[in-house]
Amino acid sequence: MPDTKPAWPFTPWPMAVEIVGAEGCHLITSDGRRILDAGGGAMLVNIGHGRPEPGAAMAKASSALAYAIPPFVTPERAKLVERLKRDWLPKNLTRIFLASGGSEAVEAAVKLARQYHVAKGNTARWKVIGRSFSYHGATIATLEIGGHTARRAAIKGMARETPKAPAHYCLRCPLGKTYPTCDIACVDEIEAIVQREGADTIAGIIAEPVVGSSGGALVPPQGYWKRLREICNRHDIVLIADEVISGFGRTGPRFAHEAEGIEIDVMVSAKGMSGGYAPIGGLFAADRIAEPLARIGDAPMFYTYSAHPAACAAADAVLKIMSDEDMLAKARAAGEKLERRLQRLKQHPNVAEVRGRGMLWGVEVVKDRETLEPFAAPGTVTNKAMKYALDNNVWVYPGGIGVTDLLMLGPPFISGDDEIETMCAVLERAIDQAVA
Ligand SMILES: Cc1ncc(COP(=O)(O)O)c(C=O)c1O
Repeated sequence: MPDTKPAWPFTPWPMAVEIVGAEGCHLITSDGRRILDAGGGAMLVNIGHGRPEPGAAMAKASSALAYAIPPFVTPERAKLVERLKRDWLPKNLTRIFLASGGSEAVEAAVKLARQYHVAKGNTARWKVIGRSFSYHGATIATLEIGGHTARRAAIKGMARETPKAPAHYCLRCPLGKTYPTCDIACVDEIEAIVQREGADTIAGIIAEPVVGSSGGALVPPQGYWKRLREICNRHDIVLIADEVISGFGRTGPRFAHEAEGIEIDVMVSAKGMSGGYAPIGGLFAADRIAEPLARIGDAPMFYTYSAHPAACAAADAVLKIMSDEDMLAKARAAGEKLERRLQRLKQHPNVAEVRGRGMLWGVEVVKDRETLEPFAAPGTVTNKAMKYALDNNVWVYPGGIGVTDLLMLGPPFISGDDEIETMCAVLERAIDQAVA
């Protein structure tokens, strides 16, 4: 009897698709199919597949040396740091710490919030407030602060419960209110949590400026981040923006929080930083956070593979392409087309909402769009639609946290009109089939 379930992610299973190559916006399978990568893998293949520059840069770096401990300088590290500072990072984020992906970088950010307060003598501050409908990584600490109920099941009983604020999920407001008359009460809930828990126990708060796949591209209501910034200022709470998905142009600006007109204390990003060509992520912090640590001789602890030279070389090559080819402008133009084309889905009897920004979109599918009643066993329709799309040569990312049905589009920034048309048309058919 063949096993039809992927018991482990990397164990080959009969239903697995074998990808042997890729080009532009397409994955190529061993049987010669070209699959449109409308999910951008996991919403990260920003510059598209098959560019030779990152690979060439990695080969050069690896030929020069296998490895050097992170505190040593290498040409690739120096170049990437220089490029990040010059072209990408908001000016207040002067400190850079590199990791091998999002979870590692978020984990370092959580520790950094704690280290900041300990350095200031506030040793009781350890809690990092998270939000519902969020995902910050797969390690124990990052699952702890995340709101991904399905993925948190694995750590039930072994993790500390940390406070969770309601997401700005206006379609299904967790507070039962309606925007804009609610006056964004969900952000005020954060201050209520701070007061309830005691500000002297709170180290930080983490939030995605545009929520990724867990919430299905939830865009913050206007003024949300300004008020969040004020709350953090009032209580000396470290404001961490998780831009693992939303960073490096995915939602329009370089980083999604920049559209909110505020400065944050710590930002984490990964995915688009290397466009998928190498595993790398980063934590970027303001002087205000780094200085108290420096005074007591503390700093983030590096991982063995932090700032690996080949990964730095790949990220540097990808970010150079992003600048040289004005990929942010391309993403904005393609994003506008995608948004326009997706409007048609709003008429679908089973679509509750189409939401997102730039090149990050979520489609929430429901049994009844009037009452917003979800399908029984949420996730089933998502998986059926994903499978239909894949069978029809389009990769759509399955979103959600196990309580709603969500399909995500996060295509490469180089997506053209034909690709946008194809991904939207197949997605529409996939939803039709899945709900039938
Ligand atoms: C918002 C967000 N934060 C953190 C992570 C974790 O990143 P990684 O899977 O690279 O460890 C993810 C992954 O999808 C994410 O979407």
